[in-house]
Amino acid sequence: MKPHVLLNSAMTVDGKIATSNSSMQISGSDDLKRVHMLRKKFDAIMVGINTVIIDNPRLTVHKIKSESYDNPIRIIVDSRLRIPRDANVLDSSARTIILTTRMARVRDVELLRSMCDVIVCGEDVVNLSEALKILYDMGISSIMLEGGSTLNFSMFKDGLVDKVSVCIGSRILGGVESKTLVGGRGFSLDEVVELELDDFYRIDGDIVLEYNVKKKE
Ligand SMILES: NC(=O)c1ccc[n+]([C@@H]2O[C@H](COP(=O)([O-])OP(=O)(O)OC[C@H]3O[C@@H](n4cnc5c(N)ncnc54)[C@H](OP(=O)(O)O)[C@@H]3O)[C@@H](O)[C@H]2O)c1
Repeated sequence: MKPHVLLNSAMTVDGKIATSNSSMQISGSDDLKRVHMLRKKFDAIMVGINTVIIDNPRLTVHKIKSESYDNPIRIIVDSRLRIPRDANVLDSSARTIILTTRMARVRDVELLRSMCDVIVCGEDVVNLSEALKILYDMGISSIMLEGGSTLNFSMFKDGLVDKVSVCIGSRILGGVESKTLVGGRGFSLDEVVELELDDFYRIDGDIVLEYNVKKKE
């Protein structure tokens, strides 16, 4: 068994979620409120370590009226414990779980265990299927995956994403170096992820598309 996973992201009309090395606001303030409403409904939010290093997000519910118990658990995927010790996700506003691997130094694991939970799961990259089983057994039954590009790819590759919600901001970024919604090595034609459109609506000047991920036979 694994938690239910929704990938939620904002992207430009040309499918970019960020420049090559910095973050940018892609959707409008109404969409940000929508994302924070969604966060309230999930047990946990998951992001890759590059997103933590580049954006330094809090990953809490703070764009709408909320209580501290509304904050989901923050899950960071970080093979070598590159996480900055002063990262916002290590503050006391919510519980944080770092998924790491046997490549992480014992000294770093011990230090971080004094600040948050650390689960060692995988040899050189985090074994996401195994990690999601462990998280489910810990009582986490729903996860909102919030990027970035590389983690999104791995989550699809391992068949771990159930739903996709994308807000298309009315912008074009361009550039081959910019990050796309799903990066990694990309899929071969027989691996392409098939989606089923579930809903779509306008939010301020942006558009939200919601899909179910079709399961492979
Ligand atoms: N527009 C949006 O909605 C949105 C949302 C989120 C992020 N972003 C943007 O996305 C960018 C970051 O994306 P990114 O692709 O560079 O990085 P990322 O997906 O945030 O993090 C990827 C890193 O996670 C670690 N990792 C460990 N195990 C993994 C596994 N099994 N599969 C995949 N990754 C694994 C790897 O680093 P180690 O090997 O060092 O562990 C990997 O390089 C930022 O610029 C951010 O602003 C945009």
